[in-house]
Amino acid sequence: MSFKEKTVIVTGATSGMGKDIAQALHEKGAQVVAGGRDQIRGAELQNQGIVFVPGDIKIPQANQALVEKAMTTYGRLDALVIAAGQLGIGRLHELSLEDWEDTLATNLSAVFYLLKYAIPHLKEGGQVVIIGSVAALHAFPDHPAYTASKAALPGLVKQIALDYGPAIRINLVSPAQVLTPLLQDSVKAFENPETILEETAASLPMKRLGLPRDITNMVLYLLGEEASWITGSNFVVDGGFLST
Ligand SMILES: NC(=O)c1ccc[n+]([C@@H]2O[C@H](COP(=O)([O-])OP(=O)(O)OC[C@H]3O[C@@H](n4cnc5c(N)ncnc54)[C@H](OP(=O)(O)O)[C@@H]3O)[C@@H](O)[C@H]2O)c1
Repeated sequence: MSFKEKTVIVTGATSGMGKDIAQALHEKGAQVVAGGRDQIRGAELQNQGIVFVPGDIKIPQANQALVEKAMTTYGRLDALVIAAGQLGIGRLHELSLEDWEDTLATNLSAVFYLLKYAIPHLKEGGQVVIIGSVAALHAFPDHPAYTASKAALPGLVKQIALDYGPAIRINLVSPAQVLTPLLQDSVKAFENPETILEETAASLPMKRLGLPRDITNMVLYLLGEEASWITGSNFVVDGGFLST
């Protein structure tokens, strides 16, 4: 699969899944414009030939800046992969207003901001993949802001599929436990943080945690021509987690 001369914005590209997706797209010839806040990890992407635009996506203008960079650098925009996300852990009555608002802003409002600014520039045949979570379908201890923000995404994706098809295809990929810094942070919410990941891996039908590449493979498929009749859908990639 080649993405030669296609321009793709990837958010959350400084870590975990977004980073793997950005690097895989770059290796396959895409012109990648990558977002994130961490300037050091952003510089590593720049060294690999990936354009990095630092910014906090909770701020609408940071999303606008990603679109402007794609248009000024490459003169076209073909696809978006929205992978940035945050946890905002805490039992609901103890959760600060700021943590609630930040989590909703990062996982939901920022999706709206990027779509709002990017859609007018997306080429006919443009594609969007958003990284959701099985948390939209299954609760985890003390993740109320996270589950609420992720649960909004299947609806939003269906709405955009209806309003912008056939020009734009949009799909959601919903992972379960994938080995990234975010997963390492989420264990704090469990009673047994030292052992929960090992126990989870053993309990899964596929007997291992996910790796970023497991998610990248689904994203690349959805961005490709083979997926040309797929839109508005939610693809769970979970090693069988929802079957347990
Ligand atoms: N790991 C899992 O088990 C799992 C499971 C289901 C769904 N997910 C979802 O998968 C996506 C990727 O997560 P991951 O596990 O790969 O996490 P990760 O390694 O912690 O990466 C999160 C990325 O999001 C970026 N980000 C967070 N807040 C941001 C903000 N306000 N502005 C700009 N960038 C921001 C971070 O960039 P900076 O640090 O540079 O700001 C980083 O690049 C997220 O949407 C997450 O909810 C993860």
